[in-house]
Amino acid sequence: MNKDLLIKEVQEIINAVPKTSKYRQITILANVSAFIYQEINDLNWVGFYYIENDVFSLGPFQGKIACTNISINKGMLGKCLKIKDVLNIKDVHLEKEHIACDSNSNSELVLPISIKDEIKILFDIDSPIKNRFDDELVMLFKEISNILSKEL
Ligand code: SME
Repeated sequence: MNKDLLIKEVQEIINAVPKTSKYRQITILANVSAFIYQEINDLNWVGFYYIENDVFSLGPFQGKIACTNISINKGMLGKCLKIKDVLNIKDVHLEKEHIACDSNSNSELVLPISIKDEIKILFDIDSPIKNRFDDELVMLFKEISNILSKEL
């Protein structure tokens, strides 16, 4: 994995979407989720949830069909929103609150994305391998989340 190259390509994906497009946000999230899914090994789900009043609403993603509306205080998404920070779950089976949308998931990373200083979107990545998200991958996903925070 070449982190700098991946970041550069994410920026190019974003730059390719016209600033004037009404659907800019959804276009960017759709292509970023597809790009991560195809470029990084051992992931079974990559996507975004929008925070909408008291629920997490399913946004663009790659992977199996997923839960569409999750209560804001439930699951690992709820935990991430509560701590307002990156949540790295090394083994989802040890987390009682974990919601399994895809039974293949064994580890999970959730990151908050703020727009104008308010968390609006959660970035969720699942792996069939326990402890998939090492420091290098966490750094990569933090950088991508920061870029999305500025660009969306
Ligand atoms: N595992 C998440 C639910 C979303 S799916 O992984 C796509 C949770 O526990 O909140």
